Amino acid sequence: MRRSSRWYVKPGHEADTGTTDAADVHPDCVLRLGLDVEAHGQMFTPRPIGFVDSPYKDTAEIPKGLGAKHEAEGVLRILPEFELGLTDIEGFSHLMVIWAFDRSHGFDLLGMPPSDNRPHGVFATRSPRRPNPIGLTVVELLRRENGLLHVRGVDMLEGTPILDIKPYLSSVPPETLRRGWLAEAENRAVSSHREAAGVTA
Ligand SMILES: C[S@@+](CC[C@H](N)C(=O)[O-])C[C@H]1O[C@@H](n2cnc3c(N)ncnc32)[C@H](O)[C@@H]1O
Repeated sequence: MRRSSRWYVKPGHEADTGTTDAADVHPDCVLRLGLDVEAHGQMFTPRPIGFVDSPYKDTAEIPKGLGAKHEAEGVLRILPEFELGLTDIEGFSHLMVIWAFDRSHGFDLLGMPPSDNRPHGVFATRSPRRPNPIGLTVVELLRRENGLLHVRGVDMLEGTPILDIKPYLSSVPPETLRRGWLAEAENRAVSSHREAAGVTA
């Protein structure tokens, strides 16, 4: 298995090399998922319902790592032919935005996330380098202006294709939620911070 040491495509190095790259087959295809599954039939071809207006033009500008906060405002620009589907969306405070990592090529089954110095499986992370390059971001809906949804919490690049939007309804009680390796990485970071500060238990 070939691996890359980091998830993120460095600015100016979008054509990453040296790792498994399913996208080589269709390098110009924004929504590779559609082409891949069409070959096997039975599935669907995703198409953008809109695009993200984001302050981020480069992945390096997007906050990453432990404690990173996503508070940037942006606009989900929904295409006119899908605008009717936004009916009644104003009543929801938060939305799940499903989108395509259109500038990420290939995937790594194991990768080192920015929030840890240990490798984890792609399906235990939010890496952009995934077999099906689909992103999921929960944003706060600030207001709607016809087909424009003004939101807070974007972590997508400018022009990112939006595949779907659903209301966010959390039904997991906090006491039953487990945060896996991320909680361990956070605890290690707190311990080393305390050690560095000379704090003893
Ligand atoms: C860690 S991923 C998490 C995305 C989403 N919240 C999720 O969980 O699926 C966020 C990173 O994806 C990268 N990214 C954002 N928009 C992208 C795009 N359109 N194509 C490729 N990579 C993108 C940036 O490096 C950003 O910091």
